Amino acid sequence: MRSGLSVFVVASIVAAGCTRTSVSSPPAPVQGTAVVAPSVTPGTTTAQGGMTPEQIAARNDSLVKDRTMHVNEVLAKIAGKEQMPAEQVYKNIQIFKGVPAGRVMAIMNRGISNSLGVSCSHCHVIGEYDREDKPTKQVARDMFGMVNTINGTLLKNIKNLKSPDAGVNCSTCHNGRARPGSGSQSMPQRVGTQ
Ligand code: HEC
Ligand code: HEC
Repeated sequence: MRSGLSVFVVASIVAAGCTRTSVSSPPAPVQGTAVVAPSVTPGTTTAQGGMTPEQIAARNDSLVKDRTMHVNEVLAKIAGKEQMPAEQVYKNIQIFKGVPAGRVMAIMNRGISNSLGVSCSHCHVIGEYDREDKPTKQVARDMFGMVNTINGTLLKNIKNLKSPDAGVNCSTCHNGRARPGSGSQSMPQRVGTQ
């Protein structure tokens, strides 16, 4: 069950950031080489929380630069092992077992960080990514489980949906915000690194 769950979740999360996502769509291909910072961050083109489009663009650019730098550092360290299962390359893999190590970096960058509008330090002590100091890291694991339940069970039980493959991913709710939703701590606007 464990690897089945991971593949299912990964297929939906890797595609996060796309406007439409199917749980059955193949994961985005990941080269073992350094990633190039994309110039556009999805879900961030409208004015939010009083920020001008220029301010939002500047914030996004700096987040993208920061993430690209950290991802490239990790990719340099694991050079030659990109296609190996993540648990054989990294130290503390619980949900991405069986996923190629290089692809995990694409998930970290495009799938997770970009969706939440954060950089790596939101969940990690930079350079010591196996540590569990920040509660957000385990919350992220639990969110993967929630997405899996929504897509795999809850949505499937709703009749008459228009999309035969209806699904949600991190972006569906977060859309560039670290804390979405109706809670008292929810944030109306994009936030940066913490
Ligand atoms: C929203 C939280 C979150 C963000 C942001 C995030 N990560 Fe992660 N990261 C995780 C989780 C959760 C795991 C553990 C996955 C597992 O258990 O399979 C992880 C695991 C890792 C690992 C493997 C560490 C090990 O040795 O076990 C690396 C390397 C890593 N992340 C790098 C990054 C980089 C680089 C960024 C920024 C581009 C980033 N992460 C952004 C949540 C996050
Ligand atoms: C159904 C909507 C929904 C989806 C889908 C979703 N989240 Fe969340 N997420 C929330 C809500 C609501 C909160 C709580 C915000 C608060 O504390 O006010 C939250 C909180 C978080 C937090 C804690 C942030 C903090 O600063 O404490 C992390 C990390 C997180 N989500 C990661 C993810 C990841 C990674 C995914 C995709 C695997 C994801 N979420 C998918 C709704 C969602």
